Amino acid sequence: MRLLIVSNRLPLNGVQKDGKLSFEQSAGGLVSGLSAYLDSLKSTTAQDIEYVWIGWPGITVPEKLQPEVKSVLVDLHASPVFLSEKAMDKFYLGFCNKIIWPLFHYFPSYSVYEKDYWLQYQEVNKIFRDAVLEIVQPGDIIWVHDYHLMLLPGLLREKLPNNPIGFFLHIPFPSYELYRLLPSAWGQDILRGLLGANLIGFHTQEYAQYFLRSVLRIVGYEHKLGEIQALDHAVKVETFPMGIDYQRYNSTPVGSEFEQNLKELEQLLFGYKAILSVDRLDYSKGISNRLQGYKLFLENNSQWHEQVVLLMIVVPSRVGVEHYQQMKRKIDELVGEINGRFGTLNWTPIIYQYKFLPLDALLAMYRQSDVALITPLRDGMNLIAKEYVAARRDQTGVLILSEMAGASKELGEALIINPNNLEAIAEALKQALGMPKAEQIKRNQVMQQRLKQYDVVRWSGDFIQELLQVQKGQSRTLPLAHYKQTLHTEFDQADQRLLLLDYDGTLVPFTDNPDQAKPDQELLELLKDLANAQTEVVIISGRDRAILETWLGFLNITLVAEHGAWVKRSGEQWRLSKPLLNAWKRLLLPMLTMYVDRLPGSFIEEKEFSLVWHFRQANPELSSACARELMDELMAFTSNHNIHILQGNKVIEVRNSEVTKGSTGLSLALAQPYDFILAIGDDTTDEDLFASLALEHSWPRALPPRTFTIRVGTDKTLASFFLADNLEVRKMLQELAQENTQLKGLS
Ligand code: UDP
Ligand code: G6P
Repeated sequence: MRLLIVSNRLPLNGVQKDGKLSFEQSAGGLVSGLSAYLDSLKSTTAQDIEYVWIGWPGITVPEKLQPEVKSVLVDLHASPVFLSEKAMDKFYLGFCNKIIWPLFHYFPSYSVYEKDYWLQYQEVNKIFRDAVLEIVQPGDIIWVHDYHLMLLPGLLREKLPNNPIGFFLHIPFPSYELYRLLPSAWGQDILRGLLGANLIGFHTQEYAQYFLRSVLRIVGYEHKLGEIQALDHAVKVETFPMGIDYQRYNSTPVGSEFEQNLKELEQLLFGYKAILSVDRLDYSKGISNRLQGYKLFLENNSQWHEQVVLLMIVVPSRVGVEHYQQMKRKIDELVGEINGRFGTLNWTPIIYQYKFLPLDALLAMYRQSDVALITPLRDGMNLIAKEYVAARRDQTGVLILSEMAGASKELGEALIINPNNLEAIAEALKQALGMPKAEQIKRNQVMQQRLKQYDVVRWSGDFIQELLQVQKGQSRTLPLAHYKQTLHTEFDQADQRLLLLDYDGTLVPFTDNPDQAKPDQELLELLKDLANAQTEVVIISGRDRAILETWLGFLNITLVAEHGAWVKRSGEQWRLSKPLLNAWKRLLLPMLTMYVDRLPGSFIEEKEFSLVWHFRQANPELSSACARELMDELMAFTSNHNIHILQGNKVIEVRNSEVTKGSTGLSLALAQPYDFILAIGDDTTDEDLFASLALEHSWPRALPPRTFTIRVGTDKTLASFFLADNLEVRKMLQELAQENTQLKGLS
């Protein structure tokens, strides 16, 4: 099995020194988490996974050096995507870090919606697509990471319909109210891009829910237990809280570097309690709130002066973005102010380093610090918090953690604070520094157990297993476009053809009010052209007979009303397919009426043998909730009646269960020796038809082998083919009608 990991940044950053290019580890949770997982693959023989990491090497590489860089990186399982400085400026600093990052971290006023950035984002996503296509093989698993590449799953899906494609977002997904601030075309394209994946993972349940809500509001796709049916595949949306390499932090590293770091720190901190703060320099990390909280703590607790130090590591990040530069200045000033105000000849309250620490140095910090103070204003996960807890081998130490970090959902035994509440930070510091050892151990034991169990190997293993599972469960429905020629040939060669066509959503688009979905002139012409002595056209609809009669009764076609209850052949009277009762309608009407009152914009349509609750015009979220409730109530109410409840496209319909489009459609199909049958529909009721045709189709001689069942839209289906929408249906039927005319000319 081969895994292609695709992320903006490779785990290695190119650094140019004295004209020479070398590589060092890059910063951030994505890289450190995934690297730990990949290292674990190397060290276990049980997992038979090969991998290649595709990404940007952190530096603009001149064209003449690119082959050399490529060959160096190949040995490190990395495949570089070379991007020009100009492209990175608009794509990475621009779209990613001046639009998406601030917006998704709830800093909407920092976002600048430059069109050029968006154009470059689209371009770079295409460059990544090409980089994947260059090396991908059939069966490779593709796992795309993070907000830089949200269009990539969709771009890949177009070219690779059969490869499993997963996507994981390492940052928060914001609420709909924030997401909708993106210009609508961008917001739509991003969601559609993400929906190209088979599996989309988020750190927390909330982010997954927010995503599903935006998909419903913006793209219009509903979900069932986190599963969305996209155009030609199912997409699962799930929560996978990213773990850490627990052992790496909990065990003692071999080698003298760690010992050396530990010793130096011991000397530096001798006699002091240490509070640790580590982050990339980012406004989302709440570093200035932390400093303010520490300042307040020192103001309120003079007994801790000369007893405690704040070890503050700030890792340089995205220095090309103004807000990061401003942040740096603010932090420098605050540190200066606090040290100036409280410091003495013997004591510096904050020891501040602006640099990236390698693992050994960072681990020594975790081991030597009595408290970790982590106060992001918004953070997808925050691995530092998890690493600190894991690193405490004797289980002492106190973690103070912001409730705005994804990690707080798993680390509830920490002291959880709101980073905007400076008093709470100061109070938590006091509580942490005075916390008895036994209590520290009690809290950390539980958290360590959890972190050990759900570590980064389990996280990635679960993701990949689920991805393969989702992909395996995909329906076998094929795009009709690929089989158009076969359809035409079969149609041409047949002597007797039957076309079973659903009406709403298949031949005409849905309208706010069903009365508005009248056939247009083009459709009437089309049906007229299709129907002739060799081709029987049947409109098989859920509509009542009166409306079908008015709209289509003058054509030379067969009409089927109320999902198969009524049939009218051209020139004949309506007849019931079988005797049916409708007294149950009286019992159900009051219940449906209550839901009309509850959901503004919804209404009831009453037919002879069915009742329909329509909610197309109602608020989509409210209607989802009401529809679920009504389905529940109806199920309980109707369990001992011969009636069937079905949820269609923005409708819930209750009807007699003795006849369906399947039973009536099948009897029509068997009434003549047809040698070509085409059935098209877009709704659950059409599935009955597809099911009966599929069943009889496998019975020798009952139905012709030339039976085409086509589902319109994206839902799971028993049909063999699908078409995107009613426009595609029309186009396809128009082509058949033309053929009909030409064939008539020939005969
Ligand atoms: N890290 C590091 N050296 C440092 C600071 C951080 O190796 O000096 C690593 C740290 O171990 C963690 C990651 O960088 O795994 C930071 O991840 P986190 O999720 O906390 O924040 P992000 O940077 O992804 O926003
Ligand atoms: C966060 C993001 C990562 C990113 C990292 C470092 O963890 O989720 O995608 O790589 O920050 O940021 P940078 O801009 O340096 O890649």
